Amino acid sequence: MRCKDQIFVITGANGGMGKAAVSLFLEEGAKVIAVDRTFDAKSDSEACLFVEADLTDEQQVKGIFAKVEEQYGKLDGLINLAGIAQAAAPITEVSLSQWEKIMAVNVTSLFLTSREALPLLEKNGGGSITNVASISAVRPRPGLQAYIASKGAAVAFSKALAIECAEKGIRVNVIHPGPADTSMLAKFTPVNANPDDVKEETFRKSVPLGRLIQPEDIANAALYLSSNEARNVTGAVLHVDGGRGL
Ligand SMILES: NC(=O)c1ccc[n+]([C@@H]2O[C@H](COP(=O)([O-])OP(=O)(O)OC[C@H]3O[C@@H](n4cnc5c(N)ncnc54)[C@H](O)[C@@H]3O)[C@@H](O)[C@H]2O)c1
Repeated sequence: MRCKDQIFVITGANGGMGKAAVSLFLEEGAKVIAVDRTFDAKSDSEACLFVEADLTDEQQVKGIFAKVEEQYGKLDGLINLAGIAQAAAPITEVSLSQWEKIMAVNVTSLFLTSREALPLLEKNGGGSITNVASISAVRPRPGLQAYIASKGAAVAFSKALAIECAEKGIRVNVIHPGPADTSMLAKFTPVNANPDDVKEETFRKSVPLGRLIQPEDIANAALYLSSNEARNVTGAVLHVDGGRGL
């Protein structure tokens, strides 16, 4: 029970890593506000509230945190897992609207959620924000320039916020997953390529430890960074990538 009665907002909660994080934080005694655009299944309980919202929409993000304030009056942590992939393609084939969409979901959502979460974290006397970026931000692959730029921006943003919020006892950290076994992985497949081949040849074989990252690996890292065990960890980037970043 590492987060007994603590309040956490987890975004991307209907995704592979998001579902794993929600389960783990609930097991550890947290109360979770699970946020995604839509949910396959949702049944609110005393411990878990499901909120459907588009994280690129300012008013909808304000609505999430207004609900947190109304329900709990404070917040212990925010875990940002929502994100979208990019089908690998040369830059000459990437439209401005694709670029803007990736930046909106992968970067602007971090700004909006953090801005709304901070007053509640402050009210709590401190807390943490954990943003999930990608090892590709430091070990790029061809054809993913928009996605990689968005994840690099997530790191810079997180470090900027870590220094800004340190005196308030609010920690901000980043997790860099390596290629992970969720439905997102297939979405990086270039047009006309076979997703299963790409998963094995491009992704699995690129991991020195030899296996794809599992959603639970990221949930465990998020739990550590959110816990008191990481009370002196801020502005850090934790690689959970099977050595892909080496
Ligand atoms: N899967 C990988 O190989 C991998 C590798 C490195 C980093 N990551 C990052 O890890 C995070 C989680 O990825 P995942 O593998 O669980 O992916 P996923 O696609 O399973 O989950 C992402 C979730 O984000 C939600 N989302 C997207 N846009 C949204 C919006 N505008 N508003 C609200 N919710 C929105 C989706 O609905 C989805 O449920 C992402 O940020 C991703 O970029 C994934």
